[in-house]
Amino acid sequence: MTVCGMLKALDRPDRELVEKAQEASARAYAPYSLFAVGAAVRSKSGALYAAANLENASSGLTICAEAAALSLANSAGDPEIDAIAVVGFNFTDEAAGASRIVTPCGSCRQLIAEAAQRANASVRVICCNGELSNIAVWTVAELLPNAFGPENLPASRKWPAVREELRACVERLIAIRKKP
Ligand code: THU
Repeated sequence: MTVCGMLKALDRPDRELVEKAQEASARAYAPYSLFAVGAAVRSKSGALYAAANLENASSGLTICAEAAALSLANSAGDPEIDAIAVVGFNFTDEAAGASRIVTPCGSCRQLIAEAAQRANASVRVICCNGELSNIAVWTVAELLPNAFGPENLPASRKWPAVREELRACVERLIAIRKKP
């Protein structure tokens, strides 16, 4: 853990990231757990992508806030992240604000670990309680040491070339659609 304390212990960009995550938590769809989570990722370009958890009556379909935020960055074509902030709390609790910090679940640690590999960066994970009075920062490698990853699947080395093929293919498809 690199930092533990309050919001003002963070530098300005990290504070802004945490605030975006807190704001996103208001958009949680959490009728089953009553636990709201907001997450915000920052790409190397400085852009921020924030999302909330999205639950479903079929519980296994629930999407965590971190997964949603990472997906937003990826879909924006800006997947190289350097930090993610997570804010979580039980919103029906009297003491929601002062709740304990939330750390990413196991699946989200796996997603963040691969995002870090893609970015070739040591992604920092800023974990906060609802009112941002308790904040701890870890690297994803600290939260998920010895992660399973792309090196275990050698076919993934072809991805840079295959991705270019994908882009070229979509360009051809769009050109066909636009043909008069
Ligand atoms: N949740 C997240 O969004 N991120 C986490 O890392 C932990 C759990 C959500 C999923 C579910 O909607 C609720 O919190 C309770 O598990």
